[in-house]
Amino acid sequence: MSISQAESIVKRSKSISIVIPTYNESRNIVRILDSLNISIPRDLDAEVIVVDDNSPDGTSNTVEEYAKRQDKGLDIQVIKRTNKRGLSSAIVKGIEHAKGDAVVVMDSDLSHPTQTIPKMIEELHKSDCDIVVASRYIKGGSISGWPFKRKLISKGATKIAQHGLGIKIKDPMSGFFAFKRNIVNNIKFDAIGYKILLEILVKAKNAKVKEIPYNFIDRTSGSSKMSISVGVDYLKSVWKLYRYGKSVGESEKRTSVRFFSKAGRFYTVGASGLFVNYLVSFLFGSELANLWYLYATMIGIVFSMSSNFILNKIWTFEDRNFAAKRTLQQYVMFLGFSGIGAVFQLFVVYVLVETRHMNYSLALFIAVAIASVGNFLLNKKWTFQEKVWS
Ligand code: GDD
Ligand code: MN
Repeated sequence: MSISQAESIVKRSKSISIVIPTYNESRNIVRILDSLNISIPRDLDAEVIVVDDNSPDGTSNTVEEYAKRQDKGLDIQVIKRTNKRGLSSAIVKGIEHAKGDAVVVMDSDLSHPTQTIPKMIEELHKSDCDIVVASRYIKGGSISGWPFKRKLISKGATKIAQHGLGIKIKDPMSGFFAFKRNIVNNIKFDAIGYKILLEILVKAKNAKVKEIPYNFIDRTSGSSKMSISVGVDYLKSVWKLYRYGKSVGESEKRTSVRFFSKAGRFYTVGASGLFVNYLVSFLFGSELANLWYLYATMIGIVFSMSSNFILNKIWTFEDRNFAAKRTLQQYVMFLGFSGIGAVFQLFVVYVLVETRHMNYSLALFIAVAIASVGNFLLNKKWTFQEKVWS
């Protein structure tokens, strides 16, 4: 046996690692350690890993003294980092040091009741899942002490994760969860911001997840480290995870999401066309080319139609077949539908203004809306040969 093999066997000798990130929690940390000492049965063979970011209030010293002072208590270790580098990265650090087969992550401010931990571990083994999330948003779970605003933000962030990333569970924002350590072995963490659970849920793709309820109690001591920049980090991390999901080739299964995301791209391309149109017309009309302004405008139109076509082919409809004949046919059709759309738009505006006596701006709005939806559907069906609702 090599030394590293021996080391890794020794390293894996615990059954549970409880990872607790701390920043300025000297007023809470003793209480949470006491509480763990009561709630965690000795036969669970647990270690506690506190990851402190050099808290100015001396949290790490408090923990070290506690560990020395206690007799036959839990196995407690402190990892000291040199500066405040964020909650998620502190948790990742703790996970890297964890020797347990199961890892529990929790806050140090008494918001997460230690009595829930044995239940989480039991569930992890009993229902043979990989991740157990302590959840505020399933039956039996709740939040105490949060103002309405904070609840609203939490709900909003939850919806973003569920719809944006296709996460199914009720409380992906939870900071309190347990998992089998081997499921994160191959994960490369970004560890941005607060939501490390979300990153695990996305990247440990086939993991089986269960939720069990708990009551979140807002801290009574010290202050939350939540801030605007944590919120911005959240959006950044969701975006990164969204891109990640795309890059591993997971295709969206919900038809509505596929349909509307294509429509969204189609209109984005349309908007880019206006810009191309303007810019090209302007350049050809300027001293650079010095064309007659109507010629310049025509060239602008041709350019923007062409760029719209190419972008829609490649990006909106993801059509990678560039055979010359087919592409040319599609191009002609695309131009044809644009022409039909333009004539139709004129016609609708005319009818609404003349016969309905509608004011011009409203009539124009309606006409553009109808023409552009029609344009999208016609191109989807005929130019790019897709089912309309797909
Ligand atoms: N090491 C380290 N570094 N720890 C940090 C840092 C950091 O930069 N930022 C926060 N912490 C620690 C805090 O000391 C605390 O123990 C824990 O992370 C949570 O921080 P809070 O500031 O109390 O967060 P919260 O109460 O607003 O939100 C928590 O609960 C939510 C509900 O479960 C977080 O866990 C959220 O992720 C969670 O959604
Ligand atoms: Mn808190």
